[in-house]
Amino acid sequence: MDSYQQYIEENRAYWDELAIHHPDTDSYDVESFLQGESTIRRLEREELAVVDAELLHLQCHFGMDTLSWVRNEGAAHATGVDFAPTAIETARELREQIGLTPAAARFIESDIYDLPSVLDETFEIVVTTYGTIHWLPDLDRWAEVIATHLDPGGTFYIADGHPLAEPFHHESTATDLRVHNPYFNTDVTTLEFDGSYAGTDFGLENQRSHGFSHSLGAIITALVDAGLQISFVHEHPWSFFQRFEAMEADENDRWWLPELEYELPFTVSIKATH
Ligand SMILES: C[S@@+](CC[C@H](N)C(=O)[O-])C[C@H]1O[C@@H](n2cnc3c(N)ncnc32)[C@H](O)[C@@H]1O
Repeated sequence: MDSYQQYIEENRAYWDELAIHHPDTDSYDVESFLQGESTIRRLEREELAVVDAELLHLQCHFGMDTLSWVRNEGAAHATGVDFAPTAIETARELREQIGLTPAAARFIESDIYDLPSVLDETFEIVVTTYGTIHWLPDLDRWAEVIATHLDPGGTFYIADGHPLAEPFHHESTATDLRVHNPYFNTDVTTLEFDGSYAGTDFGLENQRSHGFSHSLGAIITALVDAGLQISFVHEHPWSFFQRFEAMEADENDRWWLPELEYELPFTVSIKATH
């Protein structure tokens, strides 16, 4: 097994176990979803028009966003893809529970990089949001997969953490921003951790995960090289999660660093067409 494949396999084992625990965490609030609440955030609702569109949702985890795009946001159909079998199983169970059929939303278990070999379709929209490319070792191949599955004239959309925020330590404050990682980081970051952003002490058997930092230039260049035309790159001064312990959330679940004199970008959203 080459090292890329080893990263993917260990990440899959880690994510497959997280998919058992995440539905029980407050972060995911499955109960509100089952009662009808959309998990789609204000940002992508405002920036991405999905009504009546056919969507491909990459790295869908256990499917609440995929299902929300259809049930709450008006997409005609959504296909969610994730490499963790437990996540896909749970997504299908949730689909049953909310009364959607596979004709409205379907789920495919696949490594992103293998998707063209298991899915021979193109879509009006390919979307991926919040905590996705960090897990991918090769953005050029990622962008090629997106281009393969986009209709001519179709739209790609990503919202995620801004790469400029990644080098800072999580104990940073407004007056003490501590850089502890390089922005231009080409190394893998391997962690052993019994948890995730959604909780700790799950008792995970597979605690090792491998993450990859991608600069803003690398993300945009990968998309351009794959033949996409960038429509916008929007940088936002809030984080979609509590990146630093000192951050505080507003009523839109956007996290800010109180008393920061000069705003920094903590989230980025990019739209491109094929
Ligand atoms: C942080 S989660 C995405 C979360 C999603 N935004 C949500 O809140 O539900 C990352 C997802 O990427 C998936 N993933 C990581 N690497 C992958 C790969 N190479 N192919 C397919 N899925 C992958 C994981 O299984 C996990 O479900």
